[in-house]
Amino acid sequence: MADGDTLVIAHRGASGYLPEHTLEAKAYAHALGAHYIEQDVVATRDDRLVVLHDIHLDRVTNVAEKFPQRKRDDGRYYARDFDLAEIKSLTVWERRGDDGITAVYPNRFPTGVGTFRVPTLRDEIKLIQGLNKATGRNAGIYPEIKSPAWHRREGVDLSSLVIEQLDDLGYRTKADPVYLQCFDAAEVRRIRLELDCGLKLVQLLGENSWGESDTDYDALKTPGGLETLSELADGVGPWLGQLVSTAGVDGTPVTTGLVSAAHAAGLEVHPYTFRADQLPPGFETMEEMVRWFVETLGIDGLFTDFPDLAINALS
Ligand code: G3P
Ligand code: CA
Repeated sequence: MADGDTLVIAHRGASGYLPEHTLEAKAYAHALGAHYIEQDVVATRDDRLVVLHDIHLDRVTNVAEKFPQRKRDDGRYYARDFDLAEIKSLTVWERRGDDGITAVYPNRFPTGVGTFRVPTLRDEIKLIQGLNKATGRNAGIYPEIKSPAWHRREGVDLSSLVIEQLDDLGYRTKADPVYLQCFDAAEVRRIRLELDCGLKLVQLLGENSWGESDTDYDALKTPGGLETLSELADGVGPWLGQLVSTAGVDGTPVTTGLVSAAHAAGLEVHPYTFRADQLPPGFETMEEMVRWFVETLGIDGLFTDFPDLAINALS
């Protein structure tokens, strides 16, 4: 894909500047010119869809203060254990680490500040559609079905609910400005074949060691795996380490060959996550990094916490 066509996907919104997955972060991403805006989607106890990266609430909200008795035996607070009204009563803050205190990204929006809320998928898409109408732009949406197998064990078919919601809001075909993404390859297959979803689909790629799903990502990344995948999906979303490694004493970036292999199978490639405050080895600036991935590897899109920096680098 030519440089000018590279899609800039706002990862959890403009999350480099405002707490992730808040409507404020989404509105800002739209204002910064992101082509697509991402939603990670999980289900509440009353089967409502909310935009939240984790199946847990405790790293990004004050749930532990507000509902101290509602944690599970593992000490975590699950969105699935709360009704939407309860989740709406929580304050969202900038992501914290495992100690529940320290900000993961210390130079971003201060954690614990503000009156941000967890949005529903519907409210968020309505916001983006409204901004599209008001500005004349046409930013797309990029929902991720989070942990579908876990949700099924919890008694809810997350994929069906998301597809139903998207259909209701006008997203039905590959011509619509939406990519639906998932880490679970069995679920991607199910979404396309059983649920008969007509949207563009992206298979996310992780490492088998992450325990993200039962998917064998090593097999999926082979030419044969990518060829088979291309019968179901339109693209892949690898993490940066699957596309680049460094060579020599000067740490020069070198390609792993995965972009070419995916392109040979007819798949788009949208890697995650481009962060100005967490550059991989071999890059000094976000601009340098974006340009290398676009010009040397020929990626088709990129997930970034800093959509403005990516757009500037592309222009
Ligand atoms: O969906 C692309 C990227 O967001 C995957 O990583 O963990 O941020 O959802 P994660
Ligand atoms: Ca995601």
